[in-house]
Amino acid sequence: MIYLDNAATTSPKPFAVRKAVSEAMQLSANPGRSGHDLSLKASEEIYRARKTAAALFQADSPMKVIFTLNCTTALNLVLKGLLKNGDHVVVSDLEHNAVMRPLHKLRDKGITYSIAEVIAGDNDTTVDHFRQAINARTKLIVCTHASNVWGIRLPVERLAALAHEYGLLMVVDAAQTAGVLPIDLSDNRIDFLCMAGHKGLYGPMGTGMLIVNSDTLPDTLIEGGTGSHSLSLAQPEELPDRLESGTPNLSGIAGLRAGMAFVTQHRPDTIARHEFMLVQRLYKGLASHRRVQLYTDEPQPSDYVPLVSFNLKDTDSETAAQALNRQGIAVRAGWHCAPLAHRKMGTEDIGAIRISPSFFTKPSDIDRLLQILHRL
Ligand code: ALA
Repeated sequence: MIYLDNAATTSPKPFAVRKAVSEAMQLSANPGRSGHDLSLKASEEIYRARKTAAALFQADSPMKVIFTLNCTTALNLVLKGLLKNGDHVVVSDLEHNAVMRPLHKLRDKGITYSIAEVIAGDNDTTVDHFRQAINARTKLIVCTHASNVWGIRLPVERLAALAHEYGLLMVVDAAQTAGVLPIDLSDNRIDFLCMAGHKGLYGPMGTGMLIVNSDTLPDTLIEGGTGSHSLSLAQPEELPDRLESGTPNLSGIAGLRAGMAFVTQHRPDTIARHEFMLVQRLYKGLASHRRVQLYTDEPQPSDYVPLVSFNLKDTDSETAAQALNRQGIAVRAGWHCAPLAHRKMGTEDIGAIRISPSFFTKPSDIDRLLQILHRL
């Protein structure tokens, strides 16, 4: 099978990730709970992962790194932990349901939101649209760093500066960008960085992170055992314990640490260059095909992340993806849990076929896909 669905989760995982997961399974002691050697070793493994994440994203302390189940959990922790009755939020018209469904639910608590239009390749106008959507009750700007459907990049550093100009907080959904685009928290005003561990960071599924880069801390959604302050019935105030209750996913976090080490070793800019070479090769091949409908410009690093979505004219995207599957090619079609992004491009009726490479994808994989598409 040629796997081109890396925006859903990267596959294969590097050998070092699988080894780290297996070693942590063998260790299998509960970190931060007991004083015996095995528990201490497990705690060290978790702390090592926090340090690796803090170094990769230039967080000011490993203790600001919160391990979560996935990016969705990280976003829920922030949105539901910060927003109160009467608050207003500005989002982009490319958001995933990981942002839109919590906000839809929060309408029951008197929280409202406005949607700002993103213009691909015109960051000045995009930033203006966000500025126009801010009102006296706005508390947060929440946006994806790059669309999981169209690959369009948002100018999150400029939006973070805009948020702070108005005294707002900035939340970024980096599900598709962590490990692919450089993100330096010491050099921007992003307050809450939410990400998946199993995509561009090459960790196992069931891992994600929230990095807190603000003195404003979300209220807790989940309280419980942390291994600290055990005689107190109150949840500890300090990070990471405030937002991490219950036994953690030791083997997942160990694998995520190895995935981040893999990305650090190969460097996000080198990985991105390889993936851009592949999607540009694909885009050129698709553009020469009269039955192919493209929706974006050729992806360039300044305005996109390396993925391409398209349709075969007069064909439902799921039908086309099934035909590719029968020929040994794995892609994701349909709506990608991102209804706003499909509404924006007018693909609500048929969805789109998304091709997303990884570090392990070869030019011959793209050529094979193009060959099959020509036959279809
Ligand atoms: N959000 C993931 C995707 O885009 C699962 O496929």
